[in-house]
Amino acid sequence: MDFFTFKNDEAFCEEVPLAKIAELVGTPVYVYSKSTLDHHCRKLAEAFAPYATLPCYAVKANSNLTLLKMIFSHGFGADVVSLGELERAVKAGVDPHKVMYSGVGKAKHEIERALNLDIMAFNVESLAELAMIAALARSSGQSAAISIRVNPNIDAKTNPKIATGLHSTKFGIAENDLPDVLELIKKNKEELRLCGVSCHIGSQILDLTPLKQAAERMVNIAQELIKQGYEIQFIDMGGGVGIKYLEHQNAPDFKEYASVFSRMSCLKGMRLVIEPGRILVGNCGILLTKIILEKKTLQRRFVVVDAAMNDFIRPTLYGAEHEILPVRLGGVAEGSSRASWTQADVVGPICETGDFIGIAKSLPSTEVTRSGELLFVRGCGAYGFSMASNYNSRPRTAEVLVDGNHLITIRKRETLEDLWRLEI
Ligand SMILES: Cc1ncc(COP(=O)(O)O)c(C=O)c1O
Repeated sequence: MDFFTFKNDEAFCEEVPLAKIAELVGTPVYVYSKSTLDHHCRKLAEAFAPYATLPCYAVKANSNLTLLKMIFSHGFGADVVSLGELERAVKAGVDPHKVMYSGVGKAKHEIERALNLDIMAFNVESLAELAMIAALARSSGQSAAISIRVNPNIDAKTNPKIATGLHSTKFGIAENDLPDVLELIKKNKEELRLCGVSCHIGSQILDLTPLKQAAERMVNIAQELIKQGYEIQFIDMGGGVGIKYLEHQNAPDFKEYASVFSRMSCLKGMRLVIEPGRILVGNCGILLTKIILEKKTLQRRFVVVDAAMNDFIRPTLYGAEHEILPVRLGGVAEGSSRASWTQADVVGPICETGDFIGIAKSLPSTEVTRSGELLFVRGCGAYGFSMASNYNSRPRTAEVLVDGNHLITIRKRETLEDLWRLEI
């Protein structure tokens, strides 16, 4: 569900025409809908109400401070994977006791800062990391809350680049290695407090079966650890639930997502932690771009736009497919009469063949795809701006937030000077 709609053949975000945003802020620009984000946060909280749940938003999906503030205002915590994400979350007002710190390579200075903030827990991914945390906690006279990130060797049936639950990936600790981990925790009782178990099997998961299998496995592991006398307070099931990017796709709703954890209700006094990213912010944002020109070759029709792979890398990186639509339909109605639309590759100006926003996308072959007209790419709220770069010395786009009929810039467009500001 989102609040990007057509009214009289013109695309709107809530009450604001996308064309108006392009006029005021320029293009390319990421446009977010506040109502969509609030709606998603409320629906998620409602669906998980039957369990004692703490949603820790995966900051990597979209780390804009304004959006973080909105998400934390719903009482959510944060899942962070770097010092930068941790400091962003703190700046946006997260309660440090609701912060999970994930990632296979936490550096010393990152661990020290998280220890000082007394975060909820480190999701520990290796024996070496555990030893590092123990040593740092000892030298500062602190005790670190630990959750063991288990690699359950479960195939999330998603794009291999974002599948993280198999033993062939760098993530987590195999169940076979748990005795060694527990041994190290016992040896460092003063410095390490084992309080949870975690897993994250992948991202953009549309079939929830693997997630359910992982949940069963984690419940069993938690029960076994409790039997051994550990005070396990939570099971962290990571994030990963996918969203609908294309018309024909079916994505789980919040209730289906929550139903995966039905076995959690048998665990008295234990919290469920989830780390949703995409499902909260993915459909809250679009990328608005202007057509520079249309180019027809012997083989293809190219629509060259002012957004490129540096602004939005998901199509290039993952072969991700997004819906691309004209902002002004100009009498070319959406839906049924799309039969008359023809295929075009929507590409950016970057000097890479891999620089595309969409291949063989269906677009009208009329004046609405001429130079100067606008297109918008749906479902860009997650892993959009947060993965942007300055490749080809292109300043990063602005980000704006629409709230009803109000429009605010929540990140200014970078200037050319910003490109070399830090260079000596
Ligand atoms: C540890 C961890 N938690 C949560 C997430 C968020 O995943 P998603 O945006 O698919 O919900 C990720 C994504 O890579 C992750 O690595």
